[in-house]
Amino acid sequence: MKHDTTLYLYELAWMLPSVAIPVGMLAALLVTAFGAHIGVPGAAGRVDVTRLAQTVPFDQPGVIEVAPARYEARMVAGIWFFTPNEIRVPEGSEVTFVATSRDVIHGLFLPHADVNVMLLPGQIARVTARFPKAGEYPFVCHEYCGIAHHTMAGKVIVAPRS
Ligand code: CUA
Repeated sequence: MKHDTTLYLYELAWMLPSVAIPVGMLAALLVTAFGAHIGVPGAAGRVDVTRLAQTVPFDQPGVIEVAPARYEARMVAGIWFFTPNEIRVPEGSEVTFVATSRDVIHGLFLPHADVNVMLLPGQIARVTARFPKAGEYPFVCHEYCGIAHHTMAGKVIVAPRS
């Protein structure tokens, strides 16, 4: 009789987490979606991928100065490139990356400046980073996007202020 009770307790010890874990995950999902408002962007964050070449700001990919020491890097990702793949700014700059994908899911990962975003076709990603020190900061695509995924890379070149 005692043996049977022990087995029952073991079973219960496994069953409780198997219910509690999905319930906890659902709670985390609800909190992030409705509490922290984390979700996919609305219509303002979307772009028609078939008309990227005619759509501001992706009709002119590149880096522009929007204010003193503040830049916007407008980037298009595609198989298997970033346009532009070299971004040049002076030391001490703040750069906002405005990027999208024109075909499949890509990523923009620039570890030295804490940039890590997915680039979804038709959705505009926007992330800001600071470059206080001169140097070269490589970025890569970190979402598997096909046979030449590993070649998809570029760099931010931060020039010293003289
Ligand atoms: Cu683009 Cu991997």
